[in-house]
Amino acid sequence: PLVTMKEILQKADQSNYGVGSFNVVNMETVIGVIKAAEETNSPIILQAAEARLRYSPLNLIGPIMVAAAQKAKVPVAVHFDHGSRPETIKQALDFGFTSVMFDGSGLSLEENAAKTIEVIRLAKRYGASVEAEIGRVGGSEDGLENIEMAITQVQDAKEFFERTEVDALAVAIGNVHGVYKSEPNLQFERLKGIDEVVAAPLVLHGGSGITVHDFRRCIQYGIKKINVQTATLNKVVERVRALCQQNEKLDYFTYHQCIINAACESAKGHIEAFQSNNQA
Ligand code: 13P
Ligand code: ZN
Ligand code: NA
Repeated sequence: PLVTMKEILQKADQSNYGVGSFNVVNMETVIGVIKAAEETNSPIILQAAEARLRYSPLNLIGPIMVAAAQKAKVPVAVHFDHGSRPETIKQALDFGFTSVMFDGSGLSLEENAAKTIEVIRLAKRYGASVEAEIGRVGGSEDGLENIEMAITQVQDAKEFFERTEVDALAVAIGNVHGVYKSEPNLQFERLKGIDEVVAAPLVLHGGSGITVHDFRRCIQYGIKKINVQTATLNKVVERVRALCQQNEKLDYFTYHQCIINAACESAKGHIEAFQSNNQA
């Protein structure tokens, strides 16, 4: 069934596991990720990122996500990832998304908090949850732009949360969007400090490329939502490439199934790393 992010993260917080928030880009990735959740009996979050809407228009991908979540055998939240435009965030809510992120990570703390509060007000009318970001996750979120990381300051996180009381808060502790250029070096002491002053579940962006050991430490220190995109899409490309090399006469439906299975397997690996399996 379709549920809110808040409900999913509350349970994760109580039982101390992480929930995978998987970016989807088409019907096949939606089917694959939900299949992974059902087969592992895990709650999950499906998300579509604003920066990808030029490839996967919201009016098409949104209803597919919502419909798939509604008929899933496990709890699924449908989330709008890295929203910056209020009108697009509202569109997502109108399509039935149960959660939205306002990404004000490029703004001053004051402006970020003020705009986050506006989005919370809007989302409340729909009964939807809100995620915000303090500090700035680096790397490439749309595959084009390379953003400089701004580490989250504990005091900023505290102040931001006191002002907004947002449902979930994304932090920058050395995590990066896309492929890590060198071994990820996450600042766990900082994360621990943030967790102590922020009552809401924390969110780790840039989940692709982080080790199981580090994921579990993050979960221990308050991370309950973990965003994964690159790992899923790279697994799909890798599998499709191998399939095309093996088969001279490839039929379309074999290719279609290959995408679903690749997305499913990648998501399953993450679900097990986050220990949300058998928690639905
Ligand atoms: P990765 O592509 O590094 O997994 O990051 C995903 C993400 O943070 C989406 O918001
Ligand atoms: Zn992100
Ligand atoms: Na990453």
